[in-house]
Amino acid sequence: MKSRLNITLLLFAVIVLFACTGKKPGEKSNLKQNVKFEQYMVEGQLLYQQHCINCHQATGQGLGKLYPPLANSDFMLDNMEAVICLIKNGISGKIIVNGVEYNQAMPGIPRITNLEIAEIATYIYNSWGNSAGQITTEKVEAVLKTCE
Ligand code: HEC
Repeated sequence: MKSRLNITLLLFAVIVLFACTGKKPGEKSNLKQNVKFEQYMVEGQLLYQQHCINCHQATGQGLGKLYPPLANSDFMLDNMEAVICLIKNGISGKIIVNGVEYNQAMPGIPRITNLEIAEIATYIYNSWGNSAGQITTEKVEAVLKTCE
């Protein structure tokens, strides 16, 4: 009787062990993803303070009729690829953000790296109520090839 119980316990332990090791890779890569996301957010905020804050403000609200908002911007949601391009190349001409027309030139940052663009994009797309998730360097690299 006792040895049967032992075998049952042993089997149970083996199953639990398998179940745990089976789960681990997924959990690990999730954790890795989260750490990467947090890193992008921290770096992105520093880069935002350096390159964008003067015009779009710390709150992402922009400035009157001069600088459009990034907080809850419908333009950003509808045009993620154009936004990746404009961080590097700038943008000018008429654009409409949340129903308001803007027509000023935004300078680009020609020497910015793909990683820095990914960090800034991740930051602005996940701050002030925006929640589009992480934007990877791979995505930035692919999109930059399509910029006009
Ligand atoms: C000198 C002021 C200035 C700086 C610095 C600046 N922008 Fe802009 N930004 C503008 C203006 C002006 C427009 C609208 C351009 C137009 O009218 O065509 C704009 C448009 C945008 C848009 C698209 C419209 C919207 O609000 O959704 C995004 C996104 C954006 N900027 C993000 C950034 C980011 C990120 C940075 C920093 C890397 C940055 N900008 C730096 C002035 C600026």
